[in-house]
Amino acid sequence: MKRIGVLTSGGDAPGMNACIRAVVLTAAAYNLDVVGFHHGYNGLLDEDYQTLLPQHVQHIIQHGGTILKSARCKALYTDAGAVQAAQVLHKLQLDALVIIGGDGSFRGALAIAPHYHGQLIGVPGTIDNDVDGTDFTIGFATAIDTALDAIDKIRDTADAFERIFLVELMGRHSGYIALSAGIAAGAEQIICPEFGPVSKAQLTKLLAPIQHAQLLRGKSSYIMVVAENSYPGGTIALAEDLSAELGTECRACILGHIQRGGKPVGADRILATKLGAYAVEQLVNGAHLMMAGELNQQAVLYPLAQTGERTKQIDPYLVRWQQQIASD
Ligand code: F6P
Repeated sequence: MKRIGVLTSGGDAPGMNACIRAVVLTAAAYNLDVVGFHHGYNGLLDEDYQTLLPQHVQHIIQHGGTILKSARCKALYTDAGAVQAAQVLHKLQLDALVIIGGDGSFRGALAIAPHYHGQLIGVPGTIDNDVDGTDFTIGFATAIDTALDAIDKIRDTADAFERIFLVELMGRHSGYIALSAGIAAGAEQIICPEFGPVSKAQLTKLLAPIQHAQLLRGKSSYIMVVAENSYPGGTIALAEDLSAELGTECRACILGHIQRGGKPVGADRILATKLGAYAVEQLVNGAHLMMAGELNQQAVLYPLAQTGERTKQIDPYLVRWQQQIASD
């Protein structure tokens, strides 16, 4: 093995730069050349890349975003796109490609695989923590802290006005961020896909704990953390529907992309460094179509094809506890 490529794909996550750095520094230790593609798979299709030397990754470990830029690439999921991607990898004489992204980005690698003679390895980078085969994804820990900072601030104003607030957090179809940040923020109620669907017809399910908390516990503020995609029409519609039912104004705050930015916290820098380094080492050992993940603090290889099976469970103990305190 002489030359490898690396790209960041899908929703950027704090710690992606730390991972690029680890890939480049580890590759240098094995005398491998590294090429970094810009804008995810788009850079691969467009042959938009740069050589990455250790000096190019100096002092990037502390920055959010990704120096390689990121994107989602529809063209890759056509046969022509996958063939073209493999052709570019062959043309640039790349023996392997490291893909830093979520399971959607790993599907791109699986599409390229039948046409490519080299090795493909994934590293889980997404704030959503929804990738099977790793306890945590790069970016999740930072996203939780960012969400917490915001929810703590909302608590101040919610307390001052004795208001009910709904705070929508990201996660696509996973409630990992919502449940974790909600618990850490002391949210009174958490709505996420794992707790079952909520529709307008089932609003009473949400109302009872609010009325209970207000009447019996004299709560001055009430924070409901809502995972995105939890309510038809979205979280603003949910706030309006709750306002109508309760006869009191509920405010909604959509945290949005703020959760994707910022300096990566220590845990993300360490995870990104470990998994980026491990991915390169395992390529040298011959790994192909695997993801470099971490389970029980051990770096492990996990089949790329199984990373999107959604078997990963949110901590059932915390789920039970949260549901219990919401209704007590
Ligand atoms: O996968 C990361 C993520 O931030 C999700 O939490 C969110 O649903 C999605 O990406 C948003 O994507 P976009 O940046 O394209 O709006």
